[in-house]
Amino acid sequence: MKPLRIALTKGRLEKNTVELFERIGLDCYHVKNKGRRLILPIGGGEIEVVLAKAADVITYVENGVCDLGVVGKDTILENGSSFFELLDLGFGKCRFALAGKKGEDFFKGHRVKTIASKYPKVTRTYFESIGMDVKIIKIEGSVELAPLLGLSDAIVDIVETGTTLKENGLEVIRDILPVSARLIANTASLKLRKAEIENLADRMEEEIHSREE
Ligand code: PRP
Repeated sequence: MKPLRIALTKGRLEKNTVELFERIGLDCYHVKNKGRRLILPIGGGEIEVVLAKAADVITYVENGVCDLGVVGKDTILENGSSFFELLDLGFGKCRFALAGKKGEDFFKGHRVKTIASKYPKVTRTYFESIGMDVKIIKIEGSVELAPLLGLSDAIVDIVETGTTLKENGLEVIRDILPVSARLIANTASLKLRKAEIENLADRMEEEIHSREE
């Protein structure tokens, strides 16, 4: 039988997931000693790990070339459409927030405000929900620069410790949504490989909850 293929978001979510896999007894030697390899077996080879960028994890799962994926809720909200969200993994916790220059009243005046974000869809949904018309500019990274350079009035971004905002003279104006890592599944895989997927997801869930108690 083909190994169950799971795409992990490279970096911190990958490390947290590998730790979780080890706690449920899966041998992760090859992933931990991967060098530059991107596809690695874990356990006794019954599972294959694929290392990808966050948005690509979703693409591989949606197209069925990976059965499962681990990706942040932020990426899901911005890019996701047709897959199944199985489990909140409880790590990779941060939040979406609207932020701007410290001490400035963002809501003052009637001029249409400009918002910079790596997450234009999340930004649009948020401002629609509060009935406010804004102009959105897509930025690829270090979005904190946009208000500092005068490109935007504020940003919508993920905030974890708040250090990046603080060190750049910015502050949270409104919290928008909590974010954490999720286990997602391809919808066809979920039918065809139900037992294997449920077994793995159950073991992961049990281990996560045992740590919470
Ligand atoms: C993220 C986010 C913030 C920062 C928040 O950026 O976009 O810039 O982390 O973390 P903090 O609240 O703990 O300071 P990332 O490191 O992913 O880099 P990027 O901005 O280049 O995407």
